[in-house]
Amino acid sequence: MTENPTAGPTVALVTGANQGIGREIVARLAERGMTTLLGARDPRRGEEAADALRSAAADVRVIPLDVTDRASVTAAARYIGHHFGVLDVLVNNAGILGDPAGQNPCSAELDVVRDVFETNVFGVISVTTAMIPLLLRSRAGRVVNVTSGLGSLALMADPAGHFARRPPSVAYVPSKTALNSLTVQYANALRAHGVLVNAADPGPCATSLTEAVPGLTRTAADGAAIAVRLATLDADGPTGGFFSDDGPVPW
Ligand SMILES: NC(=O)c1ccc[n+]([C@@H]2O[C@H](COP(=O)([O-])OP(=O)(O)OC[C@H]3O[C@@H](n4cnc5c(N)ncnc54)[C@H](OP(=O)(O)O)[C@@H]3O)[C@@H](O)[C@H]2O)c1
Repeated sequence: MTENPTAGPTVALVTGANQGIGREIVARLAERGMTTLLGARDPRRGEEAADALRSAAADVRVIPLDVTDRASVTAAARYIGHHFGVLDVLVNNAGILGDPAGQNPCSAELDVVRDVFETNVFGVISVTTAMIPLLLRSRAGRVVNVTSGLGSLALMADPAGHFARRPPSVAYVPSKTALNSLTVQYANALRAHGVLVNAADPGPCATSLTEAVPGLTRTAADGAAIAVRLATLDADGPTGGFFSDDGPVPW
C-alpha cells in the first residue's frame, strides 16, 4: 500500500477503453500527465490499444476489467488500492447498444434488455461502488458517467423533436436514462466529500457502437472531449449535472 497516496500522481481509470470514445479519453487524460488505467475486458486488446497510446510522456497501464463480472471489478479495485492507494478520476465509459431487434417495445426481448442493463447500469453501480473508498482518498475525486442525449426524457418525450422519430428502444435508451438518474444519486451521496459526479453526452460519433448508423461525422476524439472536461473540473465545478459540448443537457 502506498504510504501517502495523495502525494503521488493523479490516477485515472477509464472503463471499456480499448477502443472508441474510451480509448480517446485515456489518450487525453494521459496527455495531461495522469497515470491512466485503460480498462479492458480483453487484456490483449487493451495492450494493443495502450501500446499505440504510450509515449515517454504518457503513462498508460492496462487493467483487466469486465464491468459485469463482480470478481473482475473487485480485483481491479484491489489492484488500484495496492499500487496507488487512491483513485482520482473514474470514467464509466463501457457501454453496449444491444441487439436492436430485441428493443422494439411491441416485441421486446427481455434477455436483450437485461444484457444492456447489466453493462450500462449495473456495471456502473458495481464499479463506482467498488471504487468509492479509493475516490474518497483523493484530494479531488471526479466521476464521469458516459451517457447519451438519448437518455434525456425531456428530449425523447418531445413529439416534435427529432429523438421521437428514432427507432424505439426498450433497452439502450432507458439504460442511459437510468444512468442519468444514478449520476444524481452518486453526486448527492458524494457532494459533502468533494467528489464531483457528472454525466457526459458525447453526441453521435462514428465508433463500433454506431457502425450501423451512416453519415456520422463526429469522431471518437470529438466524443471524448466533454468527458475529459468533466474529469478535470476544478473544485468549484458542477456536480450532479448532465453536459454535452454545448452545455447542460435537459434531463
Ligand atoms: N458512439 C456514439 O455515438 C455514442 C453516443 C452516445 C453515447 N455513447 C456512449 O459512449 C460509450 C462508449 O461507446 P463507443 O461509441 O466508444 O463504443 P465502442 O467503440 O463499442 O466502445 C465500447 C467499449 O465498451 C467496452 N465494453 C462493453 N462491454 C463491456 C464490459 N462488460 N466490460 C468492460 N468493457 C465493456 C467495449 O469492449 P470490447 O471492445 O471488448 O467490446 C468497448 O471497449 C458507451 O457508454 C456509449 O453508450 C456513444
